Amino acid sequence: MKITVDVVTLFPVFFESPLQESLLKKAQDKGLVAFNIHDLRQWTHDRHKTADDKPFGGGAGMVMKPEPIFECVEEIGKDAWVVLLDPQGEPMSQKLAQKLAKKKHLVLIAGHYEGVDQRVKDHLIDQEISVGDFITMGGEAPALCLIEAVTRLIPGVLGNEDSVQHESFQTGILEYPHYTRPREYRGWKVPDVLVSGNHKEVDLWRRKAAEQVTRQKRPDLLKSSLRRKK
Ligand SMILES: C[S@@+](CC[C@H](N)C(=O)[O-])C[C@H]1O[C@@H](n2cnc3c(N)ncnc32)[C@H](O)[C@@H]1O
Repeated sequence: MKITVDVVTLFPVFFESPLQESLLKKAQDKGLVAFNIHDLRQWTHDRHKTADDKPFGGGAGMVMKPEPIFECVEEIGKDAWVVLLDPQGEPMSQKLAQKLAKKKHLVLIAGHYEGVDQRVKDHLIDQEISVGDFITMGGEAPALCLIEAVTRLIPGVLGNEDSVQHESFQTGILEYPHYTRPREYRGWKVPDVLVSGNHKEVDLWRRKAAEQVTRQKRPDLLKSSLRRKK
């Protein structure tokens, strides 16, 4: 087993279908990754399985209580890198996915409501990660995003490891455009060079096209890639 990912959530059913489809399923079948989805309510102590409470100081919304989260992570997460999905966290990136793909054991905590009690952030987790400057309803979709990004970087998960090397962000810039059959569709033709059979020319075209598309859509990436090369 290469990586174990434990997910802590109030909504375990959310993960059922996505983890049973496509490459995430195959990665588990091949023994490259194991996913354990934990219902946080198992670590509550009252008969209503209460995992949230009103915020001290008043205000709208509920806050996830610290005790079940601490007890759960202390039980399942020994030696794990513990991540809280949180909009205030480090922005998710391909670089971060690469770092996480090297860990043996990840625990991902999905928040809900107004989020988790601050003491979880201060005294339990190793890292907060955000999937972008927007707010989702819970940490489940962000956790899945992270799972997808990390799992596909585990050697053996993708059929063709080579494809990762050229992908957007992996190289620092965006990837070149792709075309497939038919060679002409509604009068729109595939660039001649791609059907020329000349691999050198194809490589050159792709390098230039990647730069052009990055210049158009994400000039910021091009600038930081140039800075890195200097
Ligand atoms: C409604 S949000 C709470 C937002 C919080 N009150 C704030 O303003 O920062 C509930 C949960 O969704 C998850 N979440 C929302 N947006 C996220 C993002 N951009 N990245 C990662 N997790 C996010 C977190 O786990 C969070 O605890």
